[in-house]
Amino acid sequence: HPSNLQREESCVLGRGNCRAKGGAPGFKVAILGAAGGIGQPLAMLMKINPLVSVLHLYDVVNSPGVTADVSHMDTGAVVRGFLGQPQLESALIGMDLVIIPAGVPRKPGMTRDDLFNINAGIVKTLCEGIAKCCPKAIVNLISNPVNSTVPIAAEVSKKAGTFDPKRLLGVTMLDVVRANTFVAEVLGVDPREVDVPVVGGHAGVTILPLLSQVKPPCSFTLEETTYLTNRIQNGGTEVVEAKAGAGSATLSMAYAAVKFADACLRGLRGDSGIVECTFVASQVTELPFFASKVQLGRTGAEEIFPLGPLNEYERSGLEKAKKELAASIEKGISFIHK
Ligand code: NAI
Repeated sequence: HPSNLQREESCVLGRGNCRAKGGAPGFKVAILGAAGGIGQPLAMLMKINPLVSVLHLYDVVNSPGVTADVSHMDTGAVVRGFLGQPQLESALIGMDLVIIPAGVPRKPGMTRDDLFNINAGIVKTLCEGIAKCCPKAIVNLISNPVNSTVPIAAEVSKKAGTFDPKRLLGVTMLDVVRANTFVAEVLGVDPREVDVPVVGGHAGVTILPLLSQVKPPCSFTLEETTYLTNRIQNGGTEVVEAKAGAGSATLSMAYAAVKFADACLRGLRGDSGIVECTFVASQVTELPFFASKVQLGRTGAEEIFPLGPLNEYERSGLEKAKKELAASIEKGISFIHK
């Protein structure tokens, strides 16, 4: 099939017995929604990642073009393209990691929840494919509203009997990336030296930066705390408004997605001490899902860390976050059971 571009197929003079069969050490990764604003730079960055041996690019439009383009990069990963629902299963079989940035993004004036009606159905279909074809894959779910799409994905795999809470990870890394950047600006330091835990969820007040736990240790005035919390919570809206109708964060999101996917792959490889924030099935609060620091390992989120000591500002933020999160989680769960 012409859209099923593979290196070994596209090279008519191939000598066959080269690494191009996907035999190189590394992991097999699929991107669902690979032709989109996030999907394209994400595909490019994953093609550069030395831990990836095979990269499957699936979308309902334009994936052959993106695949041809990315496949010409002289890095190790073998790239294959898949177009449209009939090719979803081929895209998923054998994958170790599936990254999902499929679905519509926000326009000015929209909340992430406004995307629910379209994206819920897309995520449901894609997760049914995962349950059938690669139920043991780690899933990195980017499609918004993450606070509802992760519960949707969980219900789909529960129905299929394949649910593994350790393997379903909602991507909140962009909130951490933004928090590191904005905190570094206030402190006047290099953002690479800063680590800000961001817990809760991925929308408005559910995004809860724990500024009392920033590393390296530092303290903020109330004015700085309020400024930073608001800027981190509204970082997505800042980009949506600046793009003025042309979509939401794509480049910083692709960067954050790769940072998170790379951490997942290093965990799969067996590296120790890999800790990142992600939105997962959790017992850290009374809610069934919550974002917090987790340890990533061979089977996904192997340990979920408690929130640690919170100050009064954070405790009050946590109460607001939990109220909104509870409703978003319930909305996702009932979408599958309605
Ligand atoms: P986009 O519209 O540029 O790309 C979405 C892609 O998904 C398109 O190529 C489209 O053809 C594809 N798609 C639609 N239906 C599909 C299906 N059934 N199967 C496979 N692919 C399908 O949107 P963009 O900017 O890439 O954003 C994608 C999603 O990521 C949005 O829901 C957005 O809200 C979310 N997002 C999440 C962030 C996070 O931090 N978790 C940050 C930024 C965006």
